[in-house]
Amino acid sequence: MSANKNFHIPRHITNVTPETAFIVLEKAKMIERQGREVIHLEIGEPDFDTPRHIKEAAVRALERGETHYTPTPGIPELRQAIAEYLKEVYGVDYDWRNNIVVTTGAKQAIYAAMFTLLEDGDEIIYPNPGYPAYPAAAVCARARPIPYRLTMEDGFSIKPEKLAELLTPKTKIVVLNSPNNPCGSVMPREDVRGIVELAEDHGFYILSDEIYRPIIFDGLKHESPLNYASNIDRVIFVDGFSKRYAMTGWRLGYLAISKEIHPYIVKVLNIMTSCPVSFTQYAAIEALRGPQEPVYEMVREYEKRRNVLIEELSKIDHIRFIKPSGAFYAFVDVSRVLKKVGMNSENFVMHLIENYGVAPLHGSAMGEYGEGYIRICFANSMENIRKGVKKIGQAIERIFS
Ligand SMILES: Cc1ncc(COP(=O)(O)O)c(C=O)c1O
Repeated sequence: MSANKNFHIPRHITNVTPETAFIVLEKAKMIERQGREVIHLEIGEPDFDTPRHIKEAAVRALERGETHYTPTPGIPELRQAIAEYLKEVYGVDYDWRNNIVVTTGAKQAIYAAMFTLLEDGDEIIYPNPGYPAYPAAAVCARARPIPYRLTMEDGFSIKPEKLAELLTPKTKIVVLNSPNNPCGSVMPREDVRGIVELAEDHGFYILSDEIYRPIIFDGLKHESPLNYASNIDRVIFVDGFSKRYAMTGWRLGYLAISKEIHPYIVKVLNIMTSCPVSFTQYAAIEALRGPQEPVYEMVREYEKRRNVLIEELSKIDHIRFIKPSGAFYAFVDVSRVLKKVGMNSENFVMHLIENYGVAPLHGSAMGEYGEGYIRICFANSMENIRKGVKKIGQAIERIFS
């Protein structure tokens, strides 16, 4: 019993699930503290350093004294740079004053959008397995998250006809995330276009999380609802600097949203954080307007690593996977292995960390439909990828021997 009889945490907060990838990281670190080696394939962050010209822009901003509060939606120059970027990449016209909001990471963009738009009784449909912040943010806003089950057979994409079966009059937001975490899938044009048509018929918003957009392989073209929406106000566009510019620690993301919603999101962000960090915003301008070659360089390197990963995975029996087309994850079906050994994916990952010194992420960390899978992040050196996957192979071989 608590000493304070008024102590009570609301049920939606006690029940909400945070990102459990950090639990696996903690376990791996514990093993490392015992002096044993662990190959980290669990956490989804680039192993590259932030490009030098971006860091230098932050240093210059600090030296100029840009160390104070900024406007809640971000400094005008950055919002202008974002609007220009969206025009260049998607050909859409956003007004930096009325449509763009800078946030403390894409995660806050997701949270702020859901918190602003949802209320008790509303539903969101989100990809499962998927990034856990979508259902978590919906639960915090007292709405009901409805999982859309991504399957390997459908190339881990959302199929409009299957999505249509889940729609109700309460559906307010449908989340798309392409390239996808954790599946590494890229949605084909017909799926994106079909979902835009559904949104226009049924009147729900599409929250399109495109944080992995440039990280795409095999010359594939990225498809966004922004390319097909007859009115971009239907799209809640989420993006961030973390992945493509290797800036996870800088905590910078943004939203492009309709003029109607904009002031309310700004109000919510004002209540939450007042404004994004000041000097990192100047670095973000440099990220967008400066040379993009470091991004292309990283993407080329991810593609090579993806190829190495596939080569190594192909040598392992009893698993299934499809070649990732984007982001830096492979989502591997290990259900036969789990059945044989009588473990769930989380126990299997713990077994791999403790006995083989390799840490992938259990699929259930990405939602209940991720059970039976492990996610392997290939934002790691080729050597570590080879070594780590070989260890997973040895563990599986042992189980079946
Ligand atoms: C799909 C997806 N969206 C958003 C984020 C959040 O990124 P940020 O670091 O900008 O908060 C992540 C981070 O892993 C992600 O995988």
